[in-house]
Amino acid sequence: MGRTILITGGAGFIGSHVVRLFVSKYPDCRIVNVDKLTYAGNLANLNDVSDRPNYRFVKMDICDFSGISSLLEEERVDGIIHLAAESHVDRSIADPFTFARTNVLGTLTLLEAARRHWSPSGWNPYGNGCLFYHISTDEVYGSLEMTHPEGIDPPFTTEASSAGHKCYGDDFFTESGKYQPHSPYSASKASSDHFVRAFHDTYGMPATVSNCSNNYGPYQFPEKLIPLFINNIRIRRPLPVYGLGENVRDWLYVEDHARAIDLIFHNGRAGETYNIGGCNEWKNIDLIKVLVRTVDRLLGRPESADMDLITFVSDRPGHDARYAIDSSKIRAELGWEPSLQFEEGIEKTVRWYLDNQGWLDGVTSGDYMKYYDSMYGHRG
Ligand code: NAD
Ligand code: TYD
Repeated sequence: MGRTILITGGAGFIGSHVVRLFVSKYPDCRIVNVDKLTYAGNLANLNDVSDRPNYRFVKMDICDFSGISSLLEEERVDGIIHLAAESHVDRSIADPFTFARTNVLGTLTLLEAARRHWSPSGWNPYGNGCLFYHISTDEVYGSLEMTHPEGIDPPFTTEASSAGHKCYGDDFFTESGKYQPHSPYSASKASSDHFVRAFHDTYGMPATVSNCSNNYGPYQFPEKLIPLFINNIRIRRPLPVYGLGENVRDWLYVEDHARAIDLIFHNGRAGETYNIGGCNEWKNIDLIKVLVRTVDRLLGRPESADMDLITFVSDRPGHDARYAIDSSKIRAELGWEPSLQFEEGIEKTVRWYLDNQGWLDGVTSGDYMKYYDSMYGHRG
């Protein structure tokens, strides 16, 4: 048997793709998925790998220091990929404490449990191959200016950039960028990033951080823009566009993020930060129109029949104007590239949600909670 890797938050959106990739690609490694199963955790996301012999699920809160410590010991964990988090900006505005608890204290709990497990005397060298890999967001860098509201040709493109795609400013987030979080979500992620680097700098813990742009794809909880709007178009509900819909996000297909995580975990340098992004900037309103056209086409409705569902609503407080990633470091150092053109990724994503209406209905009705709560106990 190879190493044992603990993945936190593996029942969530990105975590489930990472678990699936690692369980399938590394049959000699043991993959232990620790997830509290909050509203965002859904074991149905992992139905296709849950009975593999190299996979184990443990329902646990990352804030449970003694539970995590015992698990690290029992499983002889030598690598941690930490994705568990509260992840939705709107919820963080309504309830910032939960974000501080899980994202800050939960990350610190994992770090301290890993430090004591890997280096019991406090200063002895960490074993070969130990790594704490923290998954973070580009939102910690704050907001970029929209110096080109009409869009200009981007300075860098990739094979996977959408045809004729534009960028909307002159600046990009780089690994040396200043942290300027604006939402409680990004403030909590920024704080957790600092703790991870502090454990590297203070205790010598091998630790890596990556900061990724907005992900999209199958199994994303339908509170985030893309799955929420696909579902609303499907059932003909209003599409609440915050403000003028001019905000820009840099979208990346989730499996491309999972591949980047695999590369960084295995080949990245401890102590380093890697930015991951799609080189794929979209104004919300333009993206929403693509979603309406795609859903209507795939459902056989008249072209753009549902554009009138678009409803402009009050802006999100502290709404960041633009995110855009410079991912040249991971490209140059690890040879990573996004693999999917945006048009292809969106088509695949819309098809997945329309083909998996049972998953969508289960999540939106809350039925998924009842089933797993009966197996694993009620959600905290
Ligand atoms: P998600 O909300 O879909 O999943 C989070 C998972 O963490 C859920 O399964 C939930 O049950 C679990 N969890 C929450 N609190 C927990 C706790 N206290 N203990 C144990 N498990 C807990 O999130 P996601 O979109 O998959 O994001 C995963 C990670 O990637 C997060 O750290 C997020 O900050 C980061 N990230 C997300 C994006 C994005 O676009 N979604 C982009 C960049 C980085
Ligand atoms: P979201 O998916 O919440 O990701 P994030 O806030 O982390 O970038 O939102 C993406 C963009 O879509 C963001 O600019 C906010 C906007 N948005 C809406 O306009 N309406 C909505 O209902 C939601 C959820 C988001």
